[in-house]
Amino acid sequence: MNPFPILDYIKPELFCDRNSETQELISAYKNGRNVTLTSIRRLGKTGLIKHLFFNIKKNKEDYRLLYIDILKTEKLQDFIQVFSRALLIEEKNNSNWLKKLSVLIAGIKAKVSIDNITGEPNFEIAYSKPEEAVQSLESIFEYLAKQKDKYLIAIDEFQQITTYPEKNTEAILRTNIQHQHKDNYIFSGSSKHILISMFNNYGRPFYQSSQMLNLERIDIDVYAEFIKKKFNDAGKQIEFSLVKEYISFLDVHTFYVQYFFNKLFTYSTKVVTKKHSTTVFKNILNENEFVYLNYRNILTSLQFRLLHAVAKENNIKSPNANSFLRKYNFSQSSVNKSLKTLIDKEMIYHEDGAYKVYDVFFSKWLERL
Ligand SMILES: Nc1ncnc2c1ncn2[C@@H]1O[C@H](COP(=O)(O)OP(=O)(O)OP(=O)(O)O)[C@@H](O)[C@H]1O
Ligand SMILES: [Mg+2]
Repeated sequence: MNPFPILDYIKPELFCDRNSETQELISAYKNGRNVTLTSIRRLGKTGLIKHLFFNIKKNKEDYRLLYIDILKTEKLQDFIQVFSRALLIEEKNNSNWLKKLSVLIAGIKAKVSIDNITGEPNFEIAYSKPEEAVQSLESIFEYLAKQKDKYLIAIDEFQQITTYPEKNTEAILRTNIQHQHKDNYIFSGSSKHILISMFNNYGRPFYQSSQMLNLERIDIDVYAEFIKKKFNDAGKQIEFSLVKEYISFLDVHTFYVQYFFNKLFTYSTKVVTKKHSTTVFKNILNENEFVYLNYRNILTSLQFRLLHAVAKENNIKSPNANSFLRKYNFSQSSVNKSLKTLIDKEMIYHEDGAYKVYDVFFSKWLERL
């Protein structure tokens, strides 16, 4: 088995570090605090939540765990659908399942069927009036409140609720969550500025209702040691310095590091060298080239040129500086407009005072253009 998973959390042995963050999350739910977990994309928020849940289950702690990803939801009804679905699946393991199911279903006014193949509940909801959605949501929280068990509920991509047409979603959720004293929440997402503003702006419903936890990059030495050990455990030799060089080259951005070493690991050689690493890296860029080229069609030429310039400069601190504008032949207003669009499209992000291209591989490809 490849020890560098890139799709999902598998098990603690394949998960590097995050000990202090895991401890922080444990301390939070054990002491009745909610946590808002933020980081740039693909750094490991979801992995961390799954790691925490894995450990809670392994220790057979008395918590019922719900993981809800609301990335694809567009309105309150969708939120209710994914929330109740996760709850129904979790409750299937519980005693009195059928009775609980009927209470929940009646509350959310759903039509339910059981999937023939997976055995999991499928259900449809369609509310004709906005009040029905609000009542349904309340019924889910009433249901949770009536259970003896404590629930730990992780809502991933939480910033999504700010895009719902129901502008009162934040307030409705906050009111319901506030009344739950036994259950705890982890709100997680990559739109840091939206989440910070939701939880730290006086006047927003969730104001100071949760502890902020910003996930940083994994310590490079710890990560390099972890990766080297995985190679060694499989009977493959690789230099610590080579591993570290590539982690640093990939900006210690978890997904890209995992992806690179996943591919490097597949070499059947016993001694992994710089030459193998260079080849793997070239292959990755080649594999994705058609996607990168397609960005040219999707973006305006100015946006593409700006991406190119940001990658070439390897993180740009002052995109409005005359030297930058002159070198790449940009006007200040066009840079600002394109930068905003690229940030909105999540192709560029801003961190520690510098702009970077989000996708590390794409950035490296652009650098070489
Ligand atoms: N500590 C870790 N050790 C090993 N692999 C990890 C670790 N953290 C995350 N990963 C892996 O890195 C990839 C990206 O992580 P994850 O999906 O958790 O990031 P994310 O911050 O939730 O991203 P997004 O913002 O896009 O949802 C996943 O394949 C995950 O399995
Ligand atoms: Mg995630």
